[in-house]
Amino acid sequence: MSGASDAAWRLDWISRPAGPLRGTLAVPGDKSVSHRALMLGALAEGDSHIRGFLEGEDTRATAAVFAQLGVSIETPAPGERLVHGVGLHGLRAAGRPLDCGNAGTGMRLLTGLLAGQAFDSTLVGDESLSRRPMRRVTEPLERMGARIDTREGLPPLHLHGGRRLEGIRYESPVASAQVKSALLLAGLYSQGETEVLEPHPTRDYTERMLAAFGWPIDFAPGRARLAGGYTLHATDVQVPADFSSAAFFLVAASLAPGSDLLLRAVGLNPRRTGLLQALRLMGADIEVLDERASGGEPVADLRVRHAPLHGVELPEALVPDMIDEFPALFVAAAAARGTTVIRGAAELRVKESDRIATMAAGLRALGVTVQETPDGAEIAGGTVGSGTVQGHGDHRVAMSFAVAGLVADEGVRVEDCRNVATSFPGFVELANGCGFALAEA
Ligand code: S3P
Repeated sequence: MSGASDAAWRLDWISRPAGPLRGTLAVPGDKSVSHRALMLGALAEGDSHIRGFLEGEDTRATAAVFAQLGVSIETPAPGERLVHGVGLHGLRAAGRPLDCGNAGTGMRLLTGLLAGQAFDSTLVGDESLSRRPMRRVTEPLERMGARIDTREGLPPLHLHGGRRLEGIRYESPVASAQVKSALLLAGLYSQGETEVLEPHPTRDYTERMLAAFGWPIDFAPGRARLAGGYTLHATDVQVPADFSSAAFFLVAASLAPGSDLLLRAVGLNPRRTGLLQALRLMGADIEVLDERASGGEPVADLRVRHAPLHGVELPEALVPDMIDEFPALFVAAAAARGTTVIRGAAELRVKESDRIATMAAGLRALGVTVQETPDGAEIAGGTVGSGTVQGHGDHRVAMSFAVAGLVADEGVRVEDCRNVATSFPGFVELANGCGFALAEA
């Protein structure tokens, strides 16, 4: 685990008032798609070439895990991986713990994928990941026949190999693509059918990608079903730009007067774009241009221009479709005229940080009135003041407060930003290139 080194590597930023934001940006590749492309590529027969791969710490951690499991992965160029698949039963025992770093997606999906192997594995993570709930995956996997030791539901996870898994029909109590994906990946190794039903549809990248790799799967919004016993066939994957990374620029350009930004080839999977709708409800001016398909996913260019935002009662139905975008939305709400009410978002409390608490605390430090509720917050918008806030080692919290600094009266000091590299390497350079004034403190 990396607690001590986290402290040694701490990075702080100062984000000063600036703008307008202008130009054309390509944000890095999608984190969810990059993880899954590595995983299915590794289990496939043949070589899969991934383009647009996210060079983030989370996805690199997953690549390193597969290298430990005996999969050869080449990097022909930055943002590319050539995965030499070993087939469904070709992974080898690692012999030492597999470090998922900060990545909940990596750990939860790997738990499903490794539960049906012939060998034991141990999954560990950093300080933040070691606090995140894993029972949501271990409990249904144990119903399938897996045996997994946890530290009272938290990592490290020790998976016992040589178990015989049976498919189940699972009505998930949480709307979580990670839970669904973990069960589907275990389902590849199970007797009979595995079916997952969700309380609200979540991102369907695992389902789409399994189909692209030739595995028969039946899925629709809110449910997915497959049987074990087939083969994954290598295929090339084009990863779209990550909507969750574009989100910071959608909010920033909406807030900074005079802004006019074009974000290129952003993935617009409908289970990811709740923030687009939320910002439009708040008065944002965002155009979706040149909609097209790329690698089986909808992508488009997004043109965002400054517009005065106003507070809204956020429709609860949007919550699962923007679950990673709430830190950015909190900042938009703080700068908007009037009150924004968020409900039905208790999942935010178990992300890389408790994002309701960390965003509320940071906004209060900037003079914004925020009332926390168990499943959301009420944010009285208007002006954002200056001050020092904590990033809490949470990449999206840190980037959101960098956006706040852009419109704060004298700027914002954001402490503990190192983990931004987990999902958005090059954020500072890209932000400064379009008009931010963001510097290491
Ligand atoms: C992800 C699913 C979401 C999301 C995470 C990535 C995925 O988590 O917050 O950043 O790639 O499946 P949950 O499925 O736990 O909601």
